[in-house]
Amino acid sequence: MHPGGDCIACHTQRGEGPSFVFAGTVYTDYDEEDDCNGTSGVEVEVTDADGSSWTMTTNQAGNFYLASNQASPVYPITAVIRYNGLERAMVSGQSSGDCASCHTVAGSGGAPGRIVLPE
Ligand code: HEC
Ligand code: HEC
Repeated sequence: MHPGGDCIACHTQRGEGPSFVFAGTVYTDYDEEDDCNGTSGVEVEVTDADGSSWTMTTNQAGNFYLASNQASPVYPITAVIRYNGLERAMVSGQSSGDCASCHTVAGSGGAPGRIVLPE
């Protein structure tokens, strides 16, 4: 399903597709285009303001997501991604779990582009 696309916004607008609390795609490059597959097997851990955390793993398309009924985070949230024993963190707190809304091909909301593999 549409790697790189804004999962939560599109599902909400269309009233179709599952309801997610967190969703996005992990890529190798910051400027990967929409609908290019990302990397599978990447662990994505989100931690909320109360210290609760939820872990997802990217699928074959590089997409990760968690159903809305699986978490009620207290915002802001931070995130860490792990791959091959390395990690990369988002240290600034964000008030949305719609990762792809900021991690676009050019980056929006101050994000540096896509969520990319740690190195
Ligand atoms: C442009 C709109 C749009 C975008 C962007 C989008 N989706 Fe969807 N999604 C849909 C629609 C419409 C459906 C329901 C119809 C269907 O299943 O194709 C759906 C269904 C799904 C489903 C259930 C059916 C299936 O294929 O398993 C999953 C899971 C899903 N989307 C995940 C995602 C993820 C993860 C992202 C972001 C990386 C995403 N979607 C981005 C529109 C979108
Ligand atoms: C409202 C915008 C926004 C949303 C939503 C968002 N981010 Fe971010 N993200 C940023 C900004 C801004 C930065 C750069 C500052 C920082 O690293 O804290 C960033 C940085 C990152 C980084 C580190 C980037 C790098 O290359 O060093 C990762 C990893 C990350 N985000 C993952 C996520 C995940 C996973 C989600 C969804 C749970 C998410 N982000 C949702 C704005 C956002």
